Amino acid sequence: MIESKNDLMEKVVSLCKRRGFVFQGSEIYGGLSGIYDYGPLGVELRHNIKQYFWEKFINDRDDVYGVGAAILMPEKVWEASGHVGKLGLVDPVVECNICHERVRADQIEAIVDHQAKHKKEKIEWSEPKVFNLLVETKLGASEETATKVYLRGEITQGVHVNFKNVLDSMHPKMPFGIGQIGKAFRNEITPRDFLFRLREFEQMELQYYIRPGEEEGKKQFEYWKQIAFDWYLGLGFKKENLRFRQHAPDERAHYAKDAWDIEYNTPFAGWKEAWGIHHRGDWDLKRHSEYSGEDLSYYDEEKKDRFIPWDIECSGGVDRAFLFVLLEAYTEDELGGETRSYLKLSPRISPVTCAVFPLLKNKPELVEKAREIYKQLKKEFGAVVFDDNGNIGKRYRRQDEIGTPWCLTVDFETIEKNNGVTVRDRDTGEQKRIEVPELIEYIKSQI
Ligand code: GAP
Repeated sequence: MIESKNDLMEKVVSLCKRRGFVFQGSEIYGGLSGIYDYGPLGVELRHNIKQYFWEKFINDRDDVYGVGAAILMPEKVWEASGHVGKLGLVDPVVECNICHERVRADQIEAIVDHQAKHKKEKIEWSEPKVFNLLVETKLGASEETATKVYLRGEITQGVHVNFKNVLDSMHPKMPFGIGQIGKAFRNEITPRDFLFRLREFEQMELQYYIRPGEEEGKKQFEYWKQIAFDWYLGLGFKKENLRFRQHAPDERAHYAKDAWDIEYNTPFAGWKEAWGIHHRGDWDLKRHSEYSGEDLSYYDEEKKDRFIPWDIECSGGVDRAFLFVLLEAYTEDELGGETRSYLKLSPRISPVTCAVFPLLKNKPELVEKAREIYKQLKKEFGAVVFDDNGNIGKRYRRQDEIGTPWCLTVDFETIEKNNGVTVRDRDTGEQKRIEVPELIEYIKSQI
């Protein structure tokens, strides 16, 4: 049974490794702090989360376009965006006088953890310094001619630098949005809490460009806050575990006129940021116009006026959504007199949609029929599993543990009486018989 909140986090971390969701990055070489790899089930779950974002924020709408910008961007982009230098992507650090390790000055947990490392020895901390989190590298064949480039610290700038390209190729009417999903990199000083604070992570973002104006800005900001909240709920969260929190003026990023987070009530540290909704005003387009020399204004054909649009941004972390989804879904209960753990995942995102079993492995007619059904379902849903290993109870538990919503069993009634298959529900353990030709429709209706 889950005994404490930390216990829940530990169970999720252990499940992730044991069942192939998440592994330490380059584990056989000792790993890198704040870097993780996703295993076979992890990539499916991530894919489904991202697909759900793409569906709701891009495909379901007429006013949003998608792009896929490059990770490497020249230094000038980051000067324009304000991320290079003291304004942007910086954290305050202090240095320990005993081991010279640097930790975040504004994270009390990091200070406390570090003190614990030195037991009762008294640490004298240095004065706080500003540390820039952008990850830099070089492109070019020789040291002398190589140019400094940055791995993007937020995916946002890839959208802004393509604003004009989208205008010229798609001719959108105001207001319109550009969405993107992709990797971002930050040299976090204290990566921690498993997938929560990483050095390499993925973001899902929408930049929604609007006509400048305080009233329009407020209206659009409220609208997108709600869309982002509803999207998060759609991942299967209980409403009471999510909340909005407005940033205090001194907490806002340099580009933001207003900023709200959607927070999740985590078991490891209480309320923590899941998404940020930012009112970026004309900060980015104006700065890129200045720094690139390109005119990034919009001409409104109907109103016959030209302006630099304002930007309302929804920015979410894929890895954080992934972690929070697992923490929310992890459940232990008693079923049929046995304790079990299962992931109560929404069927929309579960890594496996359904599993197909022949009741017995050594009865070729059962195996053949189960394989036939498995192939049909796999063609339709992709993520379908065939399992004939061990007794049925064990097979159910294996699927419960990874959150598979339905297990379908081919038994003698299927063959002898042409009487469908049993479909077992993950959460209740209840079974019903469904005719084979109706299986696809049944599962679709439940998703
Ligand atoms: N473009 C705006 C932006 O990047 P942010 O609040 O710095 O804003 C947005 O990041 C989201 O990206 C966060 O809400 C979080 O979900 C995710 N994120 C940011 N830093 C992260 C990190 N180090 N590890 C994992 N996810 C992170």
